[in-house]
Amino acid sequence: MRQIYLDYNASTPIAQEVAEAMSGSLKANFGNPSSSHWAGSPAKAAVTRAREQVAALLGASPEEIVFTSGGSEANNHAIKGVFFALRWRGSHIITTQIEHPAVIQPCRFLETLGAEVTYLSVDGTGTVDPDDIRKAITKQTILISVMHANNEVGTIQPIAEIARVAQEHGVLFHTDAAQTVGKIGTRVDELGVDLLSIAGHKFHAPKGVGALYIRQGVKLESLIHGAGHEAGRRAGTENVLLDVGLGAACELAQARIGRMAEVQRLRDLFWTRLAELFGNQVVLNGHPEHRLPNTLNVSFIDKVGAEILAQVPEVAASTGSACHAGSAEISPVLRAMGIPINVGMGAIRFSLGLDTTAEEIEWVVHRLAETLGRADKKSANTSEEEFLLDYCI
Ligand SMILES: Cc1ncc(COP(=O)(O)O)c(C=O)c1O
Repeated sequence: MRQIYLDYNASTPIAQEVAEAMSGSLKANFGNPSSSHWAGSPAKAAVTRAREQVAALLGASPEEIVFTSGGSEANNHAIKGVFFALRWRGSHIITTQIEHPAVIQPCRFLETLGAEVTYLSVDGTGTVDPDDIRKAITKQTILISVMHANNEVGTIQPIAEIARVAQEHGVLFHTDAAQTVGKIGTRVDELGVDLLSIAGHKFHAPKGVGALYIRQGVKLESLIHGAGHEAGRRAGTENVLLDVGLGAACELAQARIGRMAEVQRLRDLFWTRLAELFGNQVVLNGHPEHRLPNTLNVSFIDKVGAEILAQVPEVAASTGSACHAGSAEISPVLRAMGIPINVGMGAIRFSLGLDTTAEEIEWVVHRLAETLGRADKKSANTSEEEFLLDYCI
């Protein structure tokens, strides 16, 4: 069976350059980076270099980078860390309804500890209005957390504008940049953020590694207490191998970001071909322009996205809909955007990468054209059990 991967927002293959950097480190850096002898020094040097590579990508200084186990931990550290450090001053957090669960769930958890959380809505393109943030700020507000770009529809948020609002009010500002590294600029001074999360496996590093940027002077409570690793911010002997992988991936992301224009051209070709073929039976979800260059989220009206994908097993992509024992549900992101159920149910997220080719796109368009007739027939006969699907994003 042919295999076409259009799910780069879910995860990415490990790049050759990253694999090589890691395999070089596998045997050479077995010592403990905290040991001052000959075995520890190369391991320490490897972590130091990796930290510099992450910092260079973000335009930060190495002391501002804490390695984590991924995007989820970085988000948890930022949100819980601010709450535990500043709850004496206030307990109000502002975020949005379209955040990844790795932001929503820590907020929900903090609500059980007395935090008050405002979950702001977005417009039909998935964009947060900085004025809504301004209006939501109170004397109790200690943190604003708004994602850089959304994982499902790709909408890029006005982060620099929100940062100005946060600064005017003396409130810390965190952004979840898991989806933006390597796709658009992520320099912290251009964004104006105090805290920024990254996730390695979204940009050709392995799974299970990420980082949190913490602006110099910002004090957070740690999630993991123990010895003084990561300048006392995250205890535990460094994961040298994964840190090396993350560092190499950051360097590569910086070197290859210019090639995202090619990816965008293919993404736009994809949309043009779908619009030609399906006319007003297909709509684009997300912002028409301020969107990740690789992301195409489309809805086939009155269809079920998961069902279409099940009929094109060659294509790896995601859907924003789920059916639980007959009751249809669209993703919280599409719901927050006000997308009607008959449109949201037909949503499919295609996310392209540097390896995607024009031939693959043409092939997928062809297969979709073929399949949509069949999807119609199948829906009439499909049992509720066959509809038991979960969110795939
Ligand atoms: C926007 C966003 N934030 C956070 C995460 C979580 O990252 P990780 O899988 O590294 O924990 C993801 C991954 O799906 C994501 O897309």
